[in-house]
Amino acid sequence: METDRAVRATGLTKTYGEGDTEVHALAGVTFEIPRGEFVVLRGASGSGKTTLLNQIGALEPPTSGDVEANGFNLNGLDDDGRTEYRLKSVGFVFQFYNLVPSLTAYENVALIAELTGGGVKERSEAVLASVGLADRLHHFPGQLSGGEQQRVSIARGLVKNPPLMLCDEPTGALDTETGTQVLSLLREITDTGDRTIIVVTHNSQIAEIANRVIDLRDGQIIENERVEAPKDPVDVAW
Ligand SMILES: Nc1ncnc2c1ncn2[C@@H]1O[C@H](COP(=O)(O)OP(=O)(O)OP(=O)(O)O)[C@@H](O)[C@H]1O
Ligand SMILES: [Mg+2]
Repeated sequence: METDRAVRATGLTKTYGEGDTEVHALAGVTFEIPRGEFVVLRGASGSGKTTLLNQIGALEPPTSGDVEANGFNLNGLDDDGRTEYRLKSVGFVFQFYNLVPSLTAYENVALIAELTGGGVKERSEAVLASVGLADRLHHFPGQLSGGEQQRVSIARGLVKNPPLMLCDEPTGALDTETGTQVLSLLREITDTGDRTIIVVTHNSQIAEIANRVIDLRDGQIIENERVEAPKDPVDVAW
């Protein structure tokens, strides 16, 4: 289980549809990501970014190939194993937050905290404070700004204390300044431990703060490069 590798994919393919409508969303992808990195996954619309993230999150079965993440071979898991993996090992952050609108910020986070152990109140409040929302605990999503809602959704992912965070266009619905704050927050999360974060984005400036940049084109990896000296988010010209 203990390994220096967060993710390894081998010969991964994902095909949607068949015959005339067949799409090779992933056309043979092989790569490794060491633990503790802030990874940016880039590529044009339709290049396969969300498909790849969904594979790493065990949200969909592959057509062929293998993914190993956090020491689990995802192909080898049964339904219960996959549910457990998604619950305990992966925090998901989506472009449109996916918060429950009828629950407060606190309740959205506590819901997940309850599924993953005790000390629900302490853990939920602490993680909301860590994303700067200590004074917004009892606001509903509709009473929060986009950036605040995204921070709630990051808190919801973090409260499980997962080794891996998967973020699909987390700043896609935010203005530049708010997006920058959210990205700085995400990078802080990796700066302090061995948590790995994979962020899908169209924004190539985000790549400047990454430890690793993976470029996808037409379902294939065209570049997987370690960045030795990533910039501090405040030093990037957004
Ligand atoms: N459920 C599906 N059924 C059929 N085709 C799909 C499905 N999901 C994705 N595809 C196709 O697979 C390809 C890759 O899609 P994917 O969503 O991974 O792209 P993406 O890089 O995330 O794009 P975007 O930047 O627009 O979000 C696209 O051609 C898309 O149309
Ligand atoms: Mg996508």
